[in-house]
Amino acid sequence: MRQTFITAAIVGMLGTLPLYAQDDEVDTRTAQETESGETSSEVEARPQEREITAKADGGEWVEEYVSEDGEELYQSLCSGCHMADGSGAVGAGKYPALSGNPNLEFAGYATYIIINGQAAMPSFGHFLNDKQVLAITDYLQTNLGNDYEVDGTLDAVADARPAEPVDQNTEEHE
Ligand code: HEC
Repeated sequence: MRQTFITAAIVGMLGTLPLYAQDDEVDTRTAQETESGETSSEVEARPQEREITAKADGGEWVEEYVSEDGEELYQSLCSGCHMADGSGAVGAGKYPALSGNPNLEFAGYATYIIINGQAAMPSFGHFLNDKQVLAITDYLQTNLGNDYEVDGTLDAVADARPAEPVDQNTEEHE
């Protein structure tokens, strides 16, 4: 609770979602430059994310994780569930197709879901900066068989962030 409060206060100051630094894990991540030139530490992957980011172990993680290229971010973080071509999948779970998806006509919908997660989709807001989220929605709107006019903005991404960061695994932290 206290951590949430402090975090919320920092969000207010920086206008960007801080990462939950875990001192003993810091050396597994590189420091990431934020837009304002501030430096913050990456956070250790939470259980749901461990699966999709397992390649971190191979050292590929850091490079892809700090990328601001929409395609690279999509292929690293999203394609595991939504498939490389955005066709989605039905198996252990149901992963909606992003290819030819009318919900992507306006960036706001995807922005919100990327940041906050939804049902079986994990939230990415706590470790992607605004530029990265925007790069992904730009990519979704113009690739994977979609041909929408890109309408996302950095301001809209910032606005979509919750006042209190969404942390689906709060019980993991004391
Ligand atoms: C662990 C699997 C998983 C990963 C990884 C994942 N998603 Fe999802 N995504 C889902 C599931 C499941 C849903 C459906 C959620 C629901 O039932 O409301 C979904 C829904 C969505 C939707 C809404 C689709 C619609 O038409 O309602 C968008 C947009 C989306 N994901 C984008 C992304 C992006 C972009 C990424 C990468 C940053 C990503 N997802 C990563 C599982 C995942």
